[in-house]
Amino acid sequence: MRMVDIIIKKREGKELTRDEIHFFVKGYTEGSIPDYQASAFTMAVLFKGMNKKEIGILTDEMLHSGETIDLSSIAGVKVDKHSTGGVGDKTSLVLGPLVAACGVKLAKMSGRGLGHTGGTLDKIESIPGTSIAIERDRFIKQVNDIGIAIIGQTGELVPADKKLYALRDVTGTVESIPLIASSIMSKKLASGSDTILLDVKFGSGAFMKTLDNARVLARTMVDIGDELHRDTRAILTDMNEPLGLAIGNNLEVKEAIATLNGQGPADLVELCTKAGATMLLQAKRVSTFEEGVKLITEKIESKEGLDKLAAMVEAQGGNKEYIYHPELFPVSKNIVEVRSSRDGFVSEINALEIGEAAMKLGAGRATKEDVIDPTAGIILAKKVGDKVAKGDLLCTVYTNVEKFEDILKEIEESFKLSEKEVTTHSIIYEIVQ
Ligand code: URA
Repeated sequence: MRMVDIIIKKREGKELTRDEIHFFVKGYTEGSIPDYQASAFTMAVLFKGMNKKEIGILTDEMLHSGETIDLSSIAGVKVDKHSTGGVGDKTSLVLGPLVAACGVKLAKMSGRGLGHTGGTLDKIESIPGTSIAIERDRFIKQVNDIGIAIIGQTGELVPADKKLYALRDVTGTVESIPLIASSIMSKKLASGSDTILLDVKFGSGAFMKTLDNARVLARTMVDIGDELHRDTRAILTDMNEPLGLAIGNNLEVKEAIATLNGQGPADLVELCTKAGATMLLQAKRVSTFEEGVKLITEKIESKEGLDKLAAMVEAQGGNKEYIYHPELFPVSKNIVEVRSSRDGFVSEINALEIGEAAMKLGAGRATKEDVIDPTAGIILAKKVGDKVAKGDLLCTVYTNVEKFEDILKEIEESFKLSEKEVTTHSIIYEIVQ
């Protein structure tokens, strides 16, 4: 078999066999297929697509390119969730503790932020002392003992994706539904949970710019999960503005704490409540969606979700006093208000633009080597649909960088204003199952 023939076959839009897909995944992971052929192949997939059978095989081959995690020594149903990436997305820090407080186990491996999107691991590390580098046995024990652990990847899970994703990032081949679906699902399946809830974002700050494309990606991933006998569901959520009000690591942790204290912003509360209800249904902890919503709401009111977050932080070496006293978190030395220079109604807060601005303030990484400032970020004062008068506060900026005037301008420009009133939509558009 020759890689060039497989590239040509896909370039001509033909269906690939398992042997051909196996040849590519194995050869690229081992290094016998060079980057230039893998680039040509991923570009051919981007243009010609793959059918359901090919996507299933690609996922399966990637899943078996490295280690897989066995969670069978954890009692009960293990649930997992994954977001396709957004700005201000602190959902896991709220949702994880809430479902754990309902008695469902969450053994989650998360990622770091890159570019305009934040990562759960960076947020957890902004809680002083808290580690995400937990070895396998301790991870399993923690989930058995307290019902929740959120850590960095252990072992060599899906090495094929590690190489392929890095290549796609620099060859313009990220935005391909077969490649995104197989990348995400191979990692989720390798991490061993029984159920998977996917939060597929669409809009300016997401990979999928439109609801229609997000729907196709969600359907593709749910079908892969079903084929491999994992209860997989997806929610389609709006990323035409950041989620909640806080963007930036310890600012987002503080918002997650406020939400677990019953004082969260409406969109984040709705997302966590409905996503939580879906996870409880997947775990068969409840028998109706409404029952799930009621149980999650009770765990916010009783503060049992907050206690779970504190228990997780403590188990991972952190100081749980920060969870009960968020005023202890360090704060940036520069705190600056951004005010509107116009009247209107907010029609969009471009998540890509404001996410990039937050990165420049110190909250994110332009390259993998950059060091994050946990205190940097933005707190929004307006959301989509709000009326704004000239001089009104749009947001407050937190930073330790010395020169930030240009960044403030970019932040103001990320608020798109319309002369007409703007109608708003619930954060979740659909649930795909
Ligand atoms: N997230 C992933 O893990 N993979 C993709 O391809 C896109 C987003």
